[in-house]
Amino acid sequence: MVASLDIGTSSIKAALAEITPGRDINLLGISQVASSGLKKGNIVDIEGTARAIENCLNELERLTGVQIYNALIGFSGISIDTVNNHAVVAVGNPSYEITPDDKERVLQSACNISLPPDKTLLQVIERQYIVDGYDGIKDPVGMVGSRLEAEVSIITAANAAIQNMQRSTARINLQVDYLIYNPLLLGESVLVPAEKEMGVVLIDFGAGITEVTIFEGGKMLHSSVLPVGDEYITRDLAIILKTSIEEAARIKQQYGIASPELLGQDSQDSMVAIKNIQGKEIKQVSQQVIADIINARVVEIIAMILAEIKLYISVEDIPAGIVLSGGGAELPGLVDVMEDYLNTSVRMGLPENLQGLPTEFNRPQNAAVLGGVIYAVQNTKTFYNEEKGFTGIFHKINYWLKDLFS
Ligand SMILES: Nc1ncnc2c1ncn2[C@@H]1O[C@H](COP(=O)(O)OP(=O)(O)OP(=O)(O)O)[C@@H](O)[C@H]1O
Ligand SMILES: [Mg+2]
Repeated sequence: MVASLDIGTSSIKAALAEITPGRDINLLGISQVASSGLKKGNIVDIEGTARAIENCLNELERLTGVQIYNALIGFSGISIDTVNNHAVVAVGNPSYEITPDDKERVLQSACNISLPPDKTLLQVIERQYIVDGYDGIKDPVGMVGSRLEAEVSIITAANAAIQNMQRSTARINLQVDYLIYNPLLLGESVLVPAEKEMGVVLIDFGAGITEVTIFEGGKMLHSSVLPVGDEYITRDLAIILKTSIEEAARIKQQYGIASPELLGQDSQDSMVAIKNIQGKEIKQVSQQVIADIINARVVEIIAMILAEIKLYISVEDIPAGIVLSGGGAELPGLVDVMEDYLNTSVRMGLPENLQGLPTEFNRPQNAAVLGGVIYAVQNTKTFYNEEKGFTGIFHKINYWLKDLFS
């Protein structure tokens, strides 16, 4: 069995799957509950988050009849940083055959970056190895050469952010087997291998944060978390239309569209009944006005995304364009507006890499939690309820973290 959790700013999602001996994934269920203990992807209320996770898992246990004691958790938040690093070592033994120890040494050296005291190394991505100048090597062990290099992407996060996550799960006795950076999970469920290989930008437009991740050569090259999300749109509607957040969220889901230009002739002038902030009086607002309000914020967020991408790559040079995921991506017309603004191909990222996914689950907001199931099967050597042991640098780091913060 594999359990995966996505602890988001607006909702917590959990998924449970059975893994056949042939490593096929049989999805047993997904549950989702509203979350209130997070701000911009960061836990600000440990008790509130613990209770919400518990409710979400109880719901999943009720749906599947399976007790859940441990899970892989997707991690994100505005404290995330990524740095790329490179290291080189001389191959140890006289036969020049590269050993697991050589690999460990070059990885250790590549991970040896100076971290501010309030930051922790969350995850290391082995981008590639180079042996005597020959690059693109996934695993150098067993190869012959005198000079071994490693290129890695290192993901760091604030100690406090990770501690709060560990404390929220510890409070409900949920064992965290893996803490994985969310966009890596998303990449598993929505991207096709050719996109990752050629070069693609994956965007998770969530409620509180937006993650912008560049993949190239099959691996993550760079990622950053922007402190803006879809909640901004809801809040704009509430402030400008002088109504409540709940009413604004309803209006956005029911009548929202990313640009007034996308409104049909007849709906441009059609009026929408909106409750005032006290929820009593009803007033009429045109769909045009609603679209104008949404479009102003959408354009601002797209401009921020573009500015972030341009720090690393020019948009024209991204062979596979942009893949837009996360719940915010469901805003009608957002893919088109982004395509026009960025002048490159944009597609909606749905978790279609999970075979046989029921249609009702095939939504961009489920991409991370379903990616967690795939990630566990493809990237971890242990399945839950089987072996608890840890191997390799990554497992050691996780082991240290759990030990350090429990
Ligand atoms: N059909 C829709 N139209 C417009 N917006 C939608 C739609 N469905 C969901 N959303 C928006 O998607 C957002 C939730 O997305 P998601 O679940 O990816 O965020 P999250 O994971 O909780 O937050 P974050 O990743 O920022 O921590 C909500 O703000 C919701 O309003
Ligand atoms: Mg999210």
